[in-house]
Amino acid sequence: MTTDYKQLLLDKLTAHCATVAVIGLGYVGLPLAVLFAEKGFKVIGVDVDAARVAAVNAGESYILDVPSARLQPLVHHQPARLRADTDYAVLAECDVAIICVPTPLNKTRDPDVRYLIAAGEAIARHMPAGMLVVLESTTYPGTTQDLLLPMLQEATVAATLPHWEVGRDFFLAFSPERIDPGRTDWTVETTPKVVGGMTPACQEVATTLYAQVVRRIVPVSSPAAAEMTKLLENTFRAVNIALVNEIAIMCDKLGLDVWEVIEAAATKPYGFMKFTPGPGVGGHCIPLDPHYLSWKLKTLNYNARFIQLAGEVNSEMPRYWVEKVRDALNEVGKPLKGSRVLVLGVAYKKDVDDVRESPALDIIELLREKGADVRYHDPYVPAFALNGIAFRREADLDRALAEADCVIITTDHSAYDWATIARRAALIVDTRHVIPT
Ligand SMILES: NC(=O)c1ccc[n+]([C@@H]2O[C@H](COP(=O)([O-])OP(=O)(O)OC[C@H]3O[C@@H](n4cnc5c(N)ncnc54)[C@H](O)[C@@H]3O)[C@@H](O)[C@H]2O)c1
Repeated sequence: MTTDYKQLLLDKLTAHCATVAVIGLGYVGLPLAVLFAEKGFKVIGVDVDAARVAAVNAGESYILDVPSARLQPLVHHQPARLRADTDYAVLAECDVAIICVPTPLNKTRDPDVRYLIAAGEAIARHMPAGMLVVLESTTYPGTTQDLLLPMLQEATVAATLPHWEVGRDFFLAFSPERIDPGRTDWTVETTPKVVGGMTPACQEVATTLYAQVVRRIVPVSSPAAAEMTKLLENTFRAVNIALVNEIAIMCDKLGLDVWEVIEAAATKPYGFMKFTPGPGVGGHCIPLDPHYLSWKLKTLNYNARFIQLAGEVNSEMPRYWVEKVRDALNEVGKPLKGSRVLVLGVAYKKDVDDVRESPALDIIELLREKGADVRYHDPYVPAFALNGIAFRREADLDRALAEADCVIITTDHSAYDWATIARRAALIVDTRHVIPT
């Protein structure tokens, strides 16, 4: 008699007695692990970073959006609702594995799927029959079917087990994470969850899984449709940010105030969505994800022009702002070379501590290339390294403001008191439009 793995899993999921493994405990994985644990599931986080695993097991969060006070009751609960491990062997006791590993670009700006492959291979070695595997990492359309599925199927062949069939012996789906770090009005629980299963049975178990913890599920017809949905969302942002950045440059040339123009346009009740210009784009999503799509299209001999153009415009913004610093200093008779420039905010956006791909880093590099004496302050980033150079935050913000020849505002952290900054700084270049005019 064959085992009805689908029914077994559905029963465990609806009773909240399934064990969920979250692979990769970063900005995406840790909040997700906490949510499942808070909803009563037993959760085991798997991460290759032993320090992160130890921190989770000690109830100490390293992700701003997850206060340690939320972790502690889960890890100290008897038995633990949430624990972490570096060893994939724990998958033997799990019913679900959700993959949240990084998907960066390599040096030639092509997808770097080595973390995904490492996770897929390790899952394949340890997964029990009847497991549901869900990929949440952002990736190109076709990854779940063309990369992950063969890995999971071949593993059983290698282990000389009978060939496992997807949708019967194990289940596979893609469901993009849409988390927006630092945001409090929309959470993992309240943001609708797009889910695409490999087969109807995969779709049923995957939607049942998320329906236990997320308020609204949006089923789509395939993993590729779900992968593409995420890329549409992030490409939409990249393109619109690039558009408004270019509009800002145009307004500057025309002697117009771009912010006045944007606010006026935003009064239109339909057909317009407000985006704001800034120093460029950063983080692990907007600057990278569209390249996953254009790479895939390149393999089909199609050139994704909007993505390329948006990338060019956004990545030119740091240079534009460095020229603004140079011009501002010039106005007061100072050369950029040798002037002290204070960069306010190195995180890629407000109220987060993430400096990955942050345009502030490009600004710092360009300013240094031109001989400026660059300092920085960021309430969330005590130190960082850039091209092998270690930077430490200015210890005293008031003093740093007073000593700077020019201050460039790169991140609009809520903790900053803009009126005071405006009073203390001799010269300000404001990429975020936060200084009262
Ligand atoms: N950060 C965001 O705002 C965001 C939002 C939506 C989607 N995403 C996507 O989610 C994915 C994860 O992003 P993130 O920001 O959470 O990354 P992250 O770097 O914060 O976390 C990834 C974690 O995975 C671990 N890891 C790496 N290789 C591993 C392996 N083989 N096995 C187990 N663990 C491994 C790392 O040690 C790290 O702790 C990416 O695809 C990203 O594009 C990110």
